[in-house]
Amino acid sequence: MKKVLVLNGPNLNMLGVREPEIYGFDTLESINAEILEYAKARDIECDFFQSNCEGELITKIHTVLTEYDGCVINAGAYTHYSYAIRDAIACVHKPFIEVHLSDVNAREDFRKISVITEVCRSAIAGYGKRSYTMAIDTLKEII
Ligand code: DQA
Repeated sequence: MKKVLVLNGPNLNMLGVREPEIYGFDTLESINAEILEYAKARDIECDFFQSNCEGELITKIHTVLTEYDGCVINAGAYTHYSYAIRDAIACVHKPFIEVHLSDVNAREDFRKISVITEVCRSAIAGYGKRSYTMAIDTLKEII
């Protein structure tokens, strides 16, 4: 069975209470449970990791090299400025799919810049929690 890591960055542990008009009312726990079921039905095993710390995210990204076939990453605000996360993804020669719940291109200007898109296989934004399951579908095609 193929194995995928679903990685969430800063403030995504606050889903459900965090600006629900933008991010919805689902908690990260319930979204992860849905992703797990969705992936399982497609013969993909998922692990989940969330951190508010850049270094912890980087250390987890490195594990994709030896432990996973691909990764779904919502790097939160780090998306827009973390060259360290970009470089970590570039170290790991496995497909990463960048996801965002909100349509980052229709929001503030700083969110229109992603420093990780270039090192990801594709980017999916603006479909709420479906962005994650769409990323699973994309990985299913390529791993
Ligand atoms: C986000 C968009 C980012 O701009 C923001 O900083 C987040 C969440 C999203 O999923 O829409 O934390 O990645």
